[in-house]
Amino acid sequence: PEPSVFPKPSYLHPLVPAYVSEVESAKLPEDFLWGVASAALQVEGAVDAEGKGPSVWDFIPHRWVNSIADNTTADVAANQYYLYKQDNARLKALGIPAYSFTISWPRVIPFGKGPVNEQGIAHYDDFFANMEENGIKSVVTLFHWDTPLALFNSYGAWTSRDIVADYVRYAKLIIERYDKYVTTWYTFNEPQYCNWRFSNYPYGTLLPSYNGIGTGGMKAEYLCGHYTLLAHAEVYQWYKNVYKGTKPMSFKNSANWIIPNTTSAADADAVTRVNDWNMGWFGGPWTDGDYPASMRSTLGDLLPTFTQAEKDMIKGSADFYALDGYTANVAAAPPNGIAACAANASDPNYPTCAVTAIVYADGFPIGPNSDPGATWLWSTPGGIRPYLSFIANKYFPKVASKGIVVSEFGFADPYESSFDTLAQILWDLRRADYMQGYLDNILAARALDGVNITGIFAWAIYDNFEWNSGLGTKFGLQYVNLTSQERHPKASMFQFLNWFKLHGLDS
Ligand code: NOJ
Repeated sequence: PEPSVFPKPSYLHPLVPAYVSEVESAKLPEDFLWGVASAALQVEGAVDAEGKGPSVWDFIPHRWVNSIADNTTADVAANQYYLYKQDNARLKALGIPAYSFTISWPRVIPFGKGPVNEQGIAHYDDFFANMEENGIKSVVTLFHWDTPLALFNSYGAWTSRDIVADYVRYAKLIIERYDKYVTTWYTFNEPQYCNWRFSNYPYGTLLPSYNGIGTGGMKAEYLCGHYTLLAHAEVYQWYKNVYKGTKPMSFKNSANWIIPNTTSAADADAVTRVNDWNMGWFGGPWTDGDYPASMRSTLGDLLPTFTQAEKDMIKGSADFYALDGYTANVAAAPPNGIAACAANASDPNYPTCAVTAIVYADGFPIGPNSDPGATWLWSTPGGIRPYLSFIANKYFPKVASKGIVVSEFGFADPYESSFDTLAQILWDLRRADYMQGYLDNILAARALDGVNITGIFAWAIYDNFEWNSGLGTKFGLQYVNLTSQERHPKASMFQFLNWFKLHGLDS
């Protein structure tokens, strides 16, 4: 149950200020890209319908009790596979100009390689055509973690170089068929989750050497990142140079604003290291042709190396930076110091050798936790503005002119799944507040700080299956009744729409 008084910070922490009054009259240009987002596994359901093969994420909730906090599965989720016509009509009625969604690889190539499932293709044919009929722009991610299970079983999925060719074949199939409908392409969602969400089973029972424990697991993680970069770059270079595609293409990054715990030099180093792992791991090869020096010196041979030809292929292989940024964190050097930790692979803080935590103000978290099952999603709207400037001007200066899209941000109210009435659910003021705060701060970065932000997408179109937390964690701007599959827009949806209206975008 919701406490009668929600804990509030006792003073205004710099990350709290939600509303930025100076941007009230700022306008966004007509071509500014905005909308709502989802991912196939999280919304489609129809887990084994019409020839779809299993993904690792269909398997995980069924195989391991408690692998998903509330022991739900994504078998049905929001049933978008069957309900997309009314969903798209609803987006149109609400006036949402773009939808960022993903294609399920095992739905179109059930075993990851080999035969194509024509029914799956027919489904996406209809889906894209329906989007077009409704005048909604398609922003498409090719891979959002639902690796075909067969590829895991045959060669360990993203731990094997074999996956590059299989992914590239899949990507080309989708791009060749749907490019005409697509506004923006993303090759990958958040490769930072290579460790477990992305490629491998989360727990060690099946293939211990791949499971994220010790160096065996870490090796798998960095191999996964490596093959992801190669797969991404191969698709990018083919798309631009062979296919002669003209749509912008990038990959989505999971990263948050990190503030130092104290003003010490060691804590500043800890912040840099977290940024290197969050942003530099994939952004370094893309902008400079290689992994950050801190990763190389710490990980040594655990981090694979690129040939010069591979570096050249990866460098420059994205048209803008895409940030999925939900919160802010604080980082500190580990108790025994960064150097000792970096030299010792069994140190609990290895390899980042930084301790991260949520941001506290006088003993309270500075905003409500947006995920009851996790400690990683706190409402800190003030963090996104300095972060966007930092990315554009300091961390990736080459990105500044290319542009930044906030490709996801969102909030799951910790109490929403225990509300008894529809009115309580729909009157989601904490999410509305989060939306307003983030949007204002993103606009402040653009209008006041000069950061070239070209798009904003809110997570999520509606309530869905949240990976390790399950169906009980609600990120939707629309409520989904999981029994009747009815949808209802929440207050935050109107807050979101009104905000764009206020800033000149009334579609
Ligand atoms: C980012 C991921 O891309 C998405 O799948 C997830 O649901 C949200 N973060 C919220 O955790």
